[in-house]
Parts: sequence; structure tokens; C-alpha cells
Amino acid sequence: MESKKSKIPSPVAKRLALYHRCVETLLKSGKEMISSKELGERLSIKSSQIRKDLSYFGGFGKRGSGYNLNYLKDALENIMGINRTWNVGVVGAGNIGTALANYQGLLKDGYKIVALFDRNDKKVGKTVGPRKVPIFHVNEMCQKIRELSIEIGVIAVPAEYAQSVADRLVKCAEIKGIINFAPVKIYVEKVDLEDVDISISFKSLTFKIWSEVIGRK
Ligand code: NAI
Repeated sequence: MESKKSKIPSPVAKRLALYHRCVETLLKSGKEMISSKELGERLSIKSSQIRKDLSYFGGFGKRGSGYNLNYLKDALENIMGINRTWNVGVVGAGNIGTALANYQGLLKDGYKIVALFDRNDKKVGKTVGPRKVPIFHVNEMCQKIRELSIEIGVIAVPAEYAQSVADRLVKCAEIKGIINFAPVKIYVEKVDLEDVDISISFKSLTFKIWSEVIGRK
């Protein structure tokens, strides 16, 4: 059975990440305060929903004057655990795995890919990208996860191997969460799981486009 380790509902967690990104952008533009109404308009989220989400954690605004953006940013970072660096290990050094290791935006957000794991001997021993992220053999996974203090695992292997990779990751005691890129439902206990699926986003989008084309309400 899939475990729900976190008590915070997944949609709330996703909205908090959206608030954080918006707050960062606003701060960069020189803004200092924002009302839940304005934040809601920017994100197409009801202001009542924003207040409700933030009230989970005690609320941060003063009635009438809105949220101080610096304070809100710090508070969101504390809530989401993004005021620190998370070491990440990616299983599968293919297109997705190497693209992730090359993506500097993740590092900027505090997610540091420190290792890739693969079963292909031709890839093992090589490095990826300007930070020279090493590729280790998947059989060394638990040992390297321990040595490199990796707490998040990413699954970037073909769908048919995703569950067995997840099982192996969970057995490495340090792993606390998994991001799954494989287009298949995987089941894990004891760790949190997030699926990333671009195809689902495309299908959801074309469903909306197609609904308009055929006049479905
Ligand atoms: P790829 O074929 O380029 O790379 C897969 C890598 O995994 C290879 O290096 C292979 O040697 C390795 N591998 C296979 N089985 C393994 C195992 N048991 N243990 C360790 N390594 C293993 O594949 P690509 O294009 O990088 O895709 C990876 C996954 O991501 C696939 O499941 C694909 O369907 C999915 N994908 C997901 C997207 C998304 O939006 N979530 C977008 C595109 C692909």
C-alpha cells in the first residue's frame, strides 16, 4: 500500500510551492507587501484558499495590511524545508537523468544532484555536466547514498524497472522521498512519493483544447 507519510495534503504542498515562487518573483521586482487577494489574482487561486492554506501553519498576514513578502518567503521556506540543501541521487543516467543533473535551476532551489546510478557499465565511472556529477553502478547505491548523505531519490529508468528501483531505493535507510519520472504507478511504504509526468500534462491540455473544439461543456 502507498503510504501517506506527510499529513499535509499534496495539493496544499503544490500550492505552497507556487506561493513561494510568486513571492520570490515579487521580491525581485522590489515589492514588499501583498494581500491574499492580489496573490490570488496572480496565481488564479481564490484568496480564501490562500488564507486557508497558510492558516495550516498559523497564518502570517495582518488583517487589512496583507503579507510582508520577506517574512512570508522565510516562513514558506521553513515550512517546506527549502531553506537548506537536499542531496539527491538519480537512478537512470539516460535522457532525463542527465538533463536533471545538468539543470542548474534545481541547485539554485537547494536540490543538489550529487550522484547518478545506472546499470549500464559503459556509463558507470563517467561524469555528467559542468559539476561533474558521478555515475555509479546501481549495485553501489545504498553505500553511495549513505556516503553522500542523499535523502531524495529520483527514478528515471524505463517504466518496467521503476518499481524494482523504488524497492531498492526504499531499502537504503537514508532515503526519505522519491520523485518518479517513469510513466507507471509505483507503490512505496515509509517514504513520500511524487510523480512527474509530462504526458499527463499534455493529455490534460489536449482534453481541454479538444473539449472546446467539439463544444463539450
Ligand atoms: P533512457 O533510456 O534515456 O535512460 C534510462 C536509463 O536507465 C539508461 O541509462 C539505462 O541504462 C538505465 N536503467 C535501466 N534499467 C535500470 C535499472 N534497473 N537500474 C538502473 N539503471 C537502469 O530513458 P529516458 O528517456 O531518460 O526516460 C527515463 C524514464 O523517464 C522513462 O521511464 C520515461 O518513460 C520517463 N520519461 C518521463 C517523462 C516525464 O515527464 N515524467 C518525460 C520523458 C520520459
